[in-house]
Amino acid sequence: MNMTDEAEQQYFPIYLKTMRANTIQAFNIYIKVKGKYVLYHSGGENLTEDILLKLIDNKVGVVFVADKDKESYNRYLVDNIPAFIKDKSIPLDERSKIIHYSVKSIALQFFSKPDIQTLPYFHNSVSKLTDFILLDDDALFSLVRLSSNTFENYIHSINVGVFGTGLAKFVLGHDSRHNIQKIATGLFLHDIGKSIIPPSILKKSNPLNHNEWNIVKQHPVEGYKLLSNMNFITEESRVIVMQHHERKSGRGYPMGLKDNQIHLYSKICSIADSFDALTSARPYRKTVEGSFNALLILKNEMMKEIDPIIFQHFVKLFSHSLQKPSNKTIAIPRTTIPPPSYRT
Ligand SMILES: [Fe+2]
Repeated sequence: MNMTDEAEQQYFPIYLKTMRANTIQAFNIYIKVKGKYVLYHSGGENLTEDILLKLIDNKVGVVFVADKDKESYNRYLVDNIPAFIKDKSIPLDERSKIIHYSVKSIALQFFSKPDIQTLPYFHNSVSKLTDFILLDDDALFSLVRLSSNTFENYIHSINVGVFGTGLAKFVLGHDSRHNIQKIATGLFLHDIGKSIIPPSILKKSNPLNHNEWNIVKQHPVEGYKLLSNMNFITEESRVIVMQHHERKSGRGYPMGLKDNQIHLYSKICSIADSFDALTSARPYRKTVEGSFNALLILKNEMMKEIDPIIFQHFVKLFSHSLQKPSNKTIAIPRTTIPPPSYRT
């Protein structure tokens, strides 16, 4: 590449902490000097500890990658998640931030353009994040604290994925009849159907008209169809996508299922989803609820619509997550819940 090409290309910032020493990345790394992007380390060469230390010593926390290498950077992130999970030399909250950031970066790519080429990477990153949650309760609590209240579909999907996977671990983790990895996949993808709704509807601040509301109500079906066509994830995951807006009273959508017709995994998702809807910004609402208020609203206004036992576990998940981190072992409450059955 000549200098003209480099000057013309676009770059995006990355956190230096996502780069691991003694790895070979396929993309060039740039730094910004006097407003210009300067090549610092070439792809295909070993990124030594010394190279990283020079940046750290100069208080450089952010470096840059060319836009054309975004996919390559995302693959690097996914490949390195297991090393970050194991690396106890990095404080737990720091590791959580890096892993959370990695999954977010891939989610942004997948939710912008959900195709079969990116789905395996997104699935892989979610699977590794789930390993982290299953391995360590403090990792789960740390990830819960990282949830953001930004209104973006991919951010909402990650929040619900983390809350729901933690909840599934609390409620079902001790029972080998339930596969938490498959549940997590469905949770992180629950709103993938929204990726085909026009932004003019999703981001509308005024009330939706009848037609617009009908389009929104189809997103569980559209998400289910999208994932079925890709033929990559199982029905155990897809049922969550299809049923996460069903409600005990039968007043949910798209099918108006009643309590015992709704799959257990979808009930887990609907609590995490409703909570995140209250605690995140929305174009049609000026206020964002704090966690405590959101739990109160769910308890006082939605108990006819959600499962009360799963909700109790959700309250425990948040009360542990919002406490200051400690070395105490948390006793995970046990609940007897029947194995999955499909009633779609
Ligand atoms: Fe949804």
